[in-house]
Amino acid sequence: MPDTTRSADARHRSSILVTGAAGNLGREVVTRLRAHGARVRSLVRHQTGPRPGAESVAGDLTDPTVVREALVGIDAVFLIWPLLDSAPAHTVVAELVAAAPRVVYLSTAAMDDEAARQSDPIVQVHADMEALLHDAGLRPLVLRSDTLASNSRGWAAQLRAGDVVSGPDVARTAVVDERDVAEAAVAVLLAHPDQLDKNLYVLTGPEVLSRADQVAHLGAALRRRLRFQALPADLARSRMLADGRPEPLVEALIAASVWRPQSHCTTDHVERLTGRPAGTFARWAIDHAAEFS
Ligand SMILES: NC(=O)c1ccc[n+]([C@@H]2O[C@H](COP(=O)([O-])OP(=O)(O)OC[C@H]3O[C@@H](n4cnc5c(N)ncnc54)[C@H](OP(=O)(O)O)[C@@H]3O)[C@@H](O)[C@H]2O)c1
Repeated sequence: MPDTTRSADARHRSSILVTGAAGNLGREVVTRLRAHGARVRSLVRHQTGPRPGAESVAGDLTDPTVVREALVGIDAVFLIWPLLDSAPAHTVVAELVAAAPRVVYLSTAAMDDEAARQSDPIVQVHADMEALLHDAGLRPLVLRSDTLASNSRGWAAQLRAGDVVSGPDVARTAVVDERDVAEAAVAVLLAHPDQLDKNLYVLTGPEVLSRADQVAHLGAALRRRLRFQALPADLARSRMLADGRPEPLVEALIAASVWRPQSHCTTDHVERLTGRPAGTFARWAIDHAAEFS
């Protein structure tokens, strides 16, 4: 665990920009940074009203003007790239180079460093982003996160309507609590770079889970007999399109369900960065049960 006491003064002086700050992960990062006394600026797509004491910039992450404004006076950036295309990132990276903050980039644990092309478009865009940031000389600190537990919020509507979650199946992975990823991100954002032993961490949960395992854990938390129903790709595609999801996203999700390999990888990197072992999905389900009923 990085000794952030040594950098306590520095962290109170430094200003940190959090992108995707209204998202599942981003808002956990913002809350924790504020609790540590850091100065935080949120970059959100839409301003949802003034929040007292909360500094924020609203606009599109792909708009260099928005990014330039957001970067004024910033020492470190928590960067996500929630798009399926890295092309618009070139101008954003140019703004980062000009402003020269420390960059902590949130990537994916599904990355295969040996592969010329990644398994699916979602992993590929993270590979492209990592390369872009490195090639620009930004020396990013990369956090490769496994599947976030908060993704299961997408099942809430189905679980309010019945006891079956249906969707495309995906390979088992060590689902990680987004609160742990946020805490790890805060640890690296507040640490002096010299205090970190790596520039790449792989953040996983403690156990490898299938979608059916996750739904069973939610059932235990809700005291209901829940079941996951894997849909064939064609049916999953047509249902997601009927739900109004954009076609490129649907195709990327289908490709991930078909091509992304199973991962048995678990690491101790959450504990190394936060001083606490990664939490279980069972715990996440108990803590968030109210959102599903
Ligand atoms: N979820 C996972 O399992 C996982 C695993 C590994 C890595 N990651 C990475 O982590 C990121 C954060 O995950 P998450 O679950 O917190 O995602 P999320 O809840 O969907 O949050 C993403 C946030 O980014 C904002 N956003 C999207 N496009 C934007 C744009 N063009 N300009 C400005 N803001 C934009 C969204 O704004 P709106 O609220 O307006 O939509 C949202 O608040 C993902 O984007 C992904 O790159 C995720």
